[in-house]
Order: sequence, then C-alpha cells, then structure tokens
Amino acid sequence: MSTYSLDTSTSRANPSPAPMKRLTVPKLMGMKGKDGKPGQPIVMLTAYTMRMAQLLDPHCDILLVGDSLGQVIYGLPTTIPVSLEMMCAHGAAVVRGSWHSVVAVDMPFGSYEASPEKAFESAARILKETGAAAVKLEGGEAMAPTIAFLNARGIPVIGHVGLTPQAVNALGGYRARGRDEAEAAKILADAKAVAGAGCFLLVLEGVMEEIAAEATRAVACPTIGIGASPACDGQVLVTEDMLGLFERTPRFVKRYEGLAERIGAAASAYAEEVRSRAFPGEEQLYRPAK
Ligand code: KIV
Repeated sequence: MSTYSLDTSTSRANPSPAPMKRLTVPKLMGMKGKDGKPGQPIVMLTAYTMRMAQLLDPHCDILLVGDSLGQVIYGLPTTIPVSLEMMCAHGAAVVRGSWHSVVAVDMPFGSYEASPEKAFESAARILKETGAAAVKLEGGEAMAPTIAFLNARGIPVIGHVGLTPQAVNALGGYRARGRDEAEAAKILADAKAVAGAGCFLLVLEGVMEEIAAEATRAVACPTIGIGASPACDGQVLVTEDMLGLFERTPRFVKRYEGLAERIGAAASAYAEEVRSRAFPGEEQLYRPAK
C-alpha cells in the first residue's frame, strides 16, 4: 500500500510511487560502520520541491531541505536572509513528494542561535508544519547545549561543522577549513562536542580530507561529507550542482548531468517553433469529436 497522497481532483497527480517504507532516524544511526568495518554509505541529496523529491526519493536515504535554497531557488546572495517560513513551505512540499527517505529541514540563520528555547520553538514549528522527521543546524561547541536540549525533547538533530555557510561573514568566505593545526583541532573539537550532545548525523562540510576521516573515526554517529572525505559514512551534494544546473562547478562537486545545457537547448527549440508557428502542431490541438 502506498502512503503517497496528492490531490487527485485535478488529475495532475500522475506519478504513482512504488510502495516503500519510510526510513527512520534510528535506522540511519545504525548505518554507521562498526568494529573498524565501514557500514553501508548513506545517500543524501538536497530537495526543495515536491517533484524533485519524487524523483530523488527512491534513490536516497535522506532528503535535506537545505537553506541553500536561498541561493538555488530564490537567487539570494547567501543563506542568511532565508526565513523559517521559506523552510516550512519547502519542507512540506518535500515531505509530500517523498515516501521513503527521511526528510530533514535546515534551521535558518537567526531561528536557533539565541537560546535552546528559541531553537526548540523553531524546530517544533518546522516539524509540525512540514511533517519532516529532523532538523539540521550549523555550529560546533557553542551549539552543543542546544542540540542536547532538542534531543532530550524528541527532536532529532543533524549537526553541521567545518565550513558553515551561515557564518560566512565571520569566516570571510567559503574557503575549505582546517588548513592549519589550530583550525583542524577546532573542527575536531566541534565534531566531538555536537556528536557528544546527541546529534544523530553530522555533516562535515569543506574540510581537509584527513580531518573528515579522523572525525568520522572519533564520533559515534554517522558523518556525511560534502567536500570532505570518502571515509565519511555518507555523502551529500546540492542536487542542482550535481545535475549541472549552474555553470560554475566547485571542486567538491561532481556533475552527473549537464541540465543547464539541455534546458537551454529545449528552450531554444521551443522558442524557434513558436516563432515559426510550428508549435502548437495538430497533435496538441483540441477538435470536437466527429
Ligand atoms: O544547505 C544545504 O544545502 C546544506 C548542505 C549542502 C549540507 O547544508
């Protein structure tokens, strides 16, 4: 039986998903390697819309409604202006478009840093309004009490250390972190602190490979790398990067498609046919039945 539901009254709800049971947070936690043996790598991609969620969901373990939607969907310069309202609207769409993956939603800048209580209020709103199973927040040692507070109140949290894009103003840019000893030690301390506080997954973003590998060995929860290490317990990419929707491909991204070129070519063919009146053709027209 499928748990998938869409309003079918418009007959636009055509994809019928294969019945699959949704993964759970404890199942994801169990995917960490044990006794020096690697576990099954965790597959995470970002999703912001219902249709993209439908397409990605059967292939993923976790769909992340990342605050990267600020740049990818809204054309904002950074993730800083992203609001709780945006995250809730996109989170609900992704939950509606998925039936298998755990859905986690990023807590936007300003919605959690001030206090554990403020974080609880924001995280509870996200879970209530979206149906997602977990939230993600950025930050190391300073965020450990907040993670413990949420965790103790039934809210599963994904930690995020290393390059933390919400701190772009403090970091001075998006350079990979951990090039010197002090920075490397701080990233490791951050990883241990947030994992010790009970995050169930830990994103390691933009860090030197050795640090990611060491953090993965040092913490009890699975780590998810982005610009990190193949030794991480899983990997995440921004889907639009992986699909080649942008001209710029940062070093840590692998392009599995070239959608920017393909969309451009399709738009160009459409424009040419509209201008030459080749579209719409006879097969796209309605005629009364004879
Ligand atoms: O916002 C985001 O998409 C993220 C991932 C890149 C980890 O935080």
